[in-house]
Amino acid sequence: MTRHFLTDLDLSPAEQAEVLDLAAAMKADRYGYRTYAGPQGTGSKTVAIIFDKTSTRTRVSFAAGVADLGGNPLIINPGESQLGHKESVADTVRVLERMVHTVVWRTYAQAGLAEMARYSSVPVINALSDDYHPCQLLADLLTVREHHGRTAGLTLAYLGDAANNMANSYLLAGVTAGMHVRVAGPDGFLPGETVVAAARERAQATGGSVLVTTSAADALDGADVLATDTWVSMGQEDEKSDRAEVFRPYAIDEAALATAAPGAIVLHCLPAYRGQEISAGVIDGPQSVVWDEAENRLHAQKAIMHWLMDASGLLAEPGEPSPSGRRA
Ligand code: CP
Ligand code: NVA
Repeated sequence: MTRHFLTDLDLSPAEQAEVLDLAAAMKADRYGYRTYAGPQGTGSKTVAIIFDKTSTRTRVSFAAGVADLGGNPLIINPGESQLGHKESVADTVRVLERMVHTVVWRTYAQAGLAEMARYSSVPVINALSDDYHPCQLLADLLTVREHHGRTAGLTLAYLGDAANNMANSYLLAGVTAGMHVRVAGPDGFLPGETVVAAARERAQATGGSVLVTTSAADALDGADVLATDTWVSMGQEDEKSDRAEVFRPYAIDEAALATAAPGAIVLHCLPAYRGQEISAGVIDGPQSVVWDEAENRLHAQKAIMHWLMDASGLLAEPGEPSPSGRRA
């Protein structure tokens, strides 16, 4: 069965830990995993990386990551293909799956990704949708592990637009990693009931927990990890002026950081807007780990690409056992 990574729930807690272990190993030996190069005499694997929205980190980390694995990254920028305006998702992926080995897609509606996966015999990876950003969360959790030594039992507080893709992914991926996830935002900008219920259900299996609140102070109190994101996500540009005031109490600044745990670290998926959701002093200060977090996109995405191919039985050549992933 082909495995896809469309939401953070697509990995069980054990699978998420396995992917993070692999990401750490790949980080320690950047050029040691050539699993997209193919055995001697066979072709390398191609990954189509499609963007309906703009990107810096996702584009560069997937392109570099596929190259590190010995594969061939094919970047398709917004407006460059027939997808969405001249050709349906289903017809597009019916063609792509004949030519490439994985499809990575940054788009708007989550339903499009679900439709693509339905018609695809190769793994489909969500590179950000309006609802989730699961690749970012793998990088964030790897960063938490590096700085705190673990994820389980830690408290993560996300402040700001608690109805956006990052908030949803913090909830789902955070509890999958056994964390206590608190999300705080203004009324009208809190996560939907379905996501909260799914996070609570998964938390029961991992020992994590969920708090959804309008109180920034309640979320911040003693937290081990602070996280925020832009107040205006891609596609919401028309709402920019209405949002600035309502989100102001949820900014992560020096006063907010002072109420977290003494060794707290600060995450931001970037791009960041200094003086809005995060102060310059915090993002450029000693507790910020945002550059490690950005780098970890590379390692985490190499790991999830390899893992999905392996779990789908697509790394093995006919007649050969599934490769372990390590260089001989
Ligand atoms: N964090 C993130 O996904 O960055 P880009 O939008 O630059 O890809
Ligand atoms: N919530 C932001 C994340 C950017 C990486 C957006 O969707 O624009």
